[in-house]
Amino acid sequence: MTTGSLLAVDLVIAVLTAAGWLGAGSAAVARRRPLALALAALALLATLARAITIIGLARAGWWFAGEKVLVTGPLSLAAVAVAGPRLLPVPGDIRSVAVPLLFAGYATSSALFVTVLHGYPASAGAGLLAVAGTVTATAVSWRAVGARPSRAMSRAALVVAVGALVTGTGLTVVPAAAPAVPHDHGYRDARTADEPTRRFTLTAGTATVRADGRDVAAWAFNAQVPGPELTATVGDVMQVTLRNRDIGRGVTLHWHGYDVPNSQDGVPGVTQAAVLPGQEFVYRFRADQAGTYWYHTHSVSDVGVRMGLYGVLVVRPGPTAGLDVTVPVHTLVGRPLPAPRTERVEAGQPARLRLINTDSTTHRYALAGTAFRVAAIDGVDLEGPTSLVDTAVLIPAGGRYDLVFTAPATPVALFVDGRVVYSTGAVSTSTGDWPVLDPLDYGAAVAVPWSRFDRSLTLVLDRGLDLHGLLPRYAHTVNGAAAPDIPPQVVRLGDVVRFTIVNRFQVVHPWHLHGHHVLVLSRDGEPAAGSPLWLDSFDVRPGEVWEVAFRADNPGVWANHCHNLAHADAGMTLHLMYS
Ligand code: C2O
Ligand code: CU
Repeated sequence: MTTGSLLAVDLVIAVLTAAGWLGAGSAAVARRRPLALALAALALLATLARAITIIGLARAGWWFAGEKVLVTGPLSLAAVAVAGPRLLPVPGDIRSVAVPLLFAGYATSSALFVTVLHGYPASAGAGLLAVAGTVTATAVSWRAVGARPSRAMSRAALVVAVGALVTGTGLTVVPAAAPAVPHDHGYRDARTADEPTRRFTLTAGTATVRADGRDVAAWAFNAQVPGPELTATVGDVMQVTLRNRDIGRGVTLHWHGYDVPNSQDGVPGVTQAAVLPGQEFVYRFRADQAGTYWYHTHSVSDVGVRMGLYGVLVVRPGPTAGLDVTVPVHTLVGRPLPAPRTERVEAGQPARLRLINTDSTTHRYALAGTAFRVAAIDGVDLEGPTSLVDTAVLIPAGGRYDLVFTAPATPVALFVDGRVVYSTGAVSTSTGDWPVLDPLDYGAAVAVPWSRFDRSLTLVLDRGLDLHGLLPRYAHTVNGAAAPDIPPQVVRLGDVVRFTIVNRFQVVHPWHLHGHHVLVLSRDGEPAAGSPLWLDSFDVRPGEVWEVAFRADNPGVWANHCHNLAHADAGMTLHLMYS
């Protein structure tokens, strides 16, 4: 079983345990003896099963099991120890065991809350709050059931609950270390003289555009979605003037995956101020990496990108022969882009399809009618890519794959999630059951350039209750905190840095570090076995543990976030900072 499914099963069993005890307690209050006994038996069985899932999770990594071992374990044992013995032998009046059964229900429910609302890392504060909740709820039920605890008991319960509540709140609600991300610092001048310069102007504004046969209200660069395709040849200097006509929430340009100097990275509040209506900003950087990239606004990026503020950036090594097509896939107001395109291609021509996923979720691509190779991922060429047929690829949010093939005499079609977006003629194949390529296993291996790491950083991705803002929210968290309260991670120029990225939650997180490509070392402990993979966007699925590494060679303050932009917006953003 994968760790992801184990996490899901564990959660279901946790709910069953708590519901079993609570149900048994309530049935006992109502004197429904058989029901109470059946539910208590279910709770006991579920507790046993839970021991197994928790041990399994601990073996997959402490990140998955920390609070379950430290908080759930003791509370579940307390539940069994208090409720279990009272049921043997079964008492004549089942109502006499209602309170112990309810206690077991409260204990296991609070443990469940700790997992769902607090998660990783386990903290004494959360544990104490769980104890306070359990004791208080038990004391209240005791009175309600009318079994009247002795005075001494009531006092003791009150003292324990208040003590746990005070200490727990103190330990939990204290804000995390304030992030020291500098804002609007001086922009480094990237001026360069006498080099061939590619000049572009992108004007952001509201616009009505055509998507899938319908006019939709969008935010667009130069009134088109996607924005103009920016192309260059390696060695060119890019000079892009960004103007904002009427996007009230501001715009910037971020060169997704393009490792530009920090001052040109386009992150508002970090590398520049957002460009407001009537303002402009000029970006300049050298196009020194060939490959398929894209640009998008980074100001309220969840809304901005979804509404259409994105476009393609392609840097070619030199003149290319044959067919070279970009396919930026996007969902604009629920409508798929781009419109399907068909063109005639002469047999024998070399062809390259540059697939770009500009959405916030994974897409499945299938190229039918020809053998092909994956020549590059995230702009970087692969080593020794082998020929593939009838194989699909999954591209994470923000990611790019370049597929190359020699045009056959018969038609070829590219399907995205079952829809044809590009073809050279009619192809009728179903691609839905094709196997999916695992890039960690594709192409020719080359030894990892580093054997030791100067710094190891961990990112544990989860969800949790965030109480630091004005309104409480159920945030997407990193190491137990949500933006803007996640402390930045610090590296020194020249460090070889290893990142361990762990997904504890039930959704995919497409991870994206700005300013650097990272080399994949392993996934779930399995070393990457194919071509070196230098990625800027990769899906960390539920229960997965990725190890990646990079050299800290591009100083600045870099955003490091989930590229499901709604998640980034809901807390899952931190920064990598050079000391
Ligand atoms: Cu494509 Cu910070 O993002
Ligand atoms: Cu995410």
